[in-house]
Amino acid sequence: MARNEVRNIAARLGFLLLDQTRLTTVASELARNVVKYAGRGRLITQMASGATGRRGLRLIFEDEGPGIADVDLAMRDGYSTGGGLGKGLPGSKRLVDEFKIESATGRGTRITVVRWLH
Ligand SMILES: Nc1ncnc2c1ncn2[C@@H]1O[C@H](COP(=O)(O)OP(=O)(O)OP(=O)(O)O)[C@@H](O)[C@H]1O
Ligand SMILES: [Mg+2]
Repeated sequence: MARNEVRNIAARLGFLLLDQTRLTTVASELARNVVKYAGRGRLITQMASGATGRRGLRLIFEDEGPGIADVDLAMRDGYSTGGGLGKGLPGSKRLVDEFKIESATGRGTRITVVRWLH
């Protein structure tokens, strides 16, 4: 659902196919983390407008799961507590212009990304 939603919104905002695919990949990885580590959560999509009038797409992935104890560690390529490749977070960061993790142990995680229209 997240993949389709994000691809449709990105296309409607005018992102080219390569950027649609970038955003769809990010949605896939970050939504999969929500499901895998928190069980459930939500994806909020927003049209973003920058200081110079540029437009973009902001995606917010939120959950009330276990949280991430060490965000720097979790961002490292190859780090996984779930037997995965540990590429979801660092790979997603490379595909967007802005990437922010807010997380508290036992409270949950919110990851906000922005891709600007170029
Ligand atoms: N929403 C989340 N809630 C709690 N922990 C998370 C969440 N997202 C990521 N993490 C933690 O960060 C680690 C790294 O995430 P990342 O997506 O990079 O790798 P992965 O999910 O383990 O493997 P994969 O390469 O298959 O995505 C996870 O193993 C997990 O410990
Ligand atoms: Mg992952």
